[in-house]
Amino acid sequence: MELPYAEPYKIKVVEPIYRSSAKEREQWIKKARYNLFNLQSDQVFIDLLTDSGTGAMSQYQWSEIMLGDESYAGSLSFLKLKNTITDLLGMPYFLPTHQGRAAENVLFSTLIKENDVVPGNSHFDTTKGHIEYRRARAVDCTIDEACHTSQFHPFKGNIDLEKLEAVFKNNPKENISLCIITVTCNTSGGQPVSMENIRDVSALCKRYGILCIFDAARFAENAYFIKTREKGYENKTIREIVKEMFSYVDGATMSSKKDAIVNIGGFIALRDKALFDKASVFNIMYEGYLTYGGLAGRDLGALAQGLMEGTEFDYLEARIGQVAYLGEKLRSYGIPIQEPTGGHAVFVDAKKFLPNVPKEEFQAQTLAVELYLEAGVRSVEIGTLLADRNPITRENRYPVLELLRLAIPRRVYTNNHMDYIAAALANIWERRESITRGFKIVSEAPIMRHFTIELERA
Ligand code: F0G
Repeated sequence: MELPYAEPYKIKVVEPIYRSSAKEREQWIKKARYNLFNLQSDQVFIDLLTDSGTGAMSQYQWSEIMLGDESYAGSLSFLKLKNTITDLLGMPYFLPTHQGRAAENVLFSTLIKENDVVPGNSHFDTTKGHIEYRRARAVDCTIDEACHTSQFHPFKGNIDLEKLEAVFKNNPKENISLCIITVTCNTSGGQPVSMENIRDVSALCKRYGILCIFDAARFAENAYFIKTREKGYENKTIREIVKEMFSYVDGATMSSKKDAIVNIGGFIALRDKALFDKASVFNIMYEGYLTYGGLAGRDLGALAQGLMEGTEFDYLEARIGQVAYLGEKLRSYGIPIQEPTGGHAVFVDAKKFLPNVPKEEFQAQTLAVELYLEAGVRSVEIGTLLADRNPITRENRYPVLELLRLAIPRRVYTNNHMDYIAAALANIWERRESITRGFKIVSEAPIMRHFTIELERA
């Protein structure tokens, strides 16, 4: 028989986790104002809030922590990272930043001005936040298939070229700051973008003279999907695919807390020296000197090592295989999820799961609270709370997709944990008809409200 995949590592250090009682959870979540960000981590049994900065580093990454060169300028850890980025991504210039949104802040300070438009596939919330904060507009040009959770499409992160061209045609060129391709597309369900689409978007951008940039947080997972789903790439290595992906863009912002498997870090990679020089000024102002950018030398070394480990096929096969395993379990219980499962997370369709809860009472958030109460599993709402209010009308924006994200940290949990999560959701699925009320907002911040929002039962 053919041997199945298995994790290409074994566990050397473990972190105990506390399995609380339903009564404790009832008190804790009420005190947290039904916002799961407000929970203490020891009040959570399995933490699927995010795959960002929550991965387990390898012994080689921990070795880099010891080897870290903490020189203010010209650190050898910086050089190690610079060489890795040049070799792996083919980008000659890079700026370290303390995380992904800091990279966005620096690059967008260089590129975006008031009244600009920034098209792309669905922008991540900090990306959109940084665009809207500059009084510019993010335009979502994702293919329509992404909105139909039960419809299978191998590349639901793809950009609809007609929608993109309409943006290019309907706006003066000087008001289109850049086009962002988010790989994989977190907001639409950790869904990949095909190489063909990247190539076509890049060509369209070139034709209209628009800068094309990756939001590269999960670029390696995207490469894995290209290898396993796109014709012509089955025999290429992940690193060959990564190189080709990056060959089509002018640069990238990166949250290294995802596919580089570090607990903190980010960077901007660029092809053009003039743009690098402009961004450098903001990097020094906001992040730190050019050879550390808000990170310690040890972080830069661990990041360089993590980029190499994160682009190994065997690792990606086990990582994405675990996410698919959870998806398959949920599917077998009849639970509606975004199909196919994404790279870093399973996204449950909360509209279909809790149809009796009115959308004004936040279906996905209601499901997140239910899952916590049921089993101590912390997930995150990717729905109306995250979509925020329209910056002009201040009305709630109701996104087409109202999802509950189960983000799986890298190299952290076992498939027994996946079975436990699936069983918890199956229990809620059994009694879904009886869940009819959600939440109302008690207080919220003017932008990116979901982090600090306070709720009460409706
Ligand atoms: N871009 C994407 C696609 C992201 O998913 C994130 C973060 C960022 C940018 C910002 O990076 O957190 O390092 O500042 N996503 C996390 C998540 C927070 O849970 O999906 P950051």
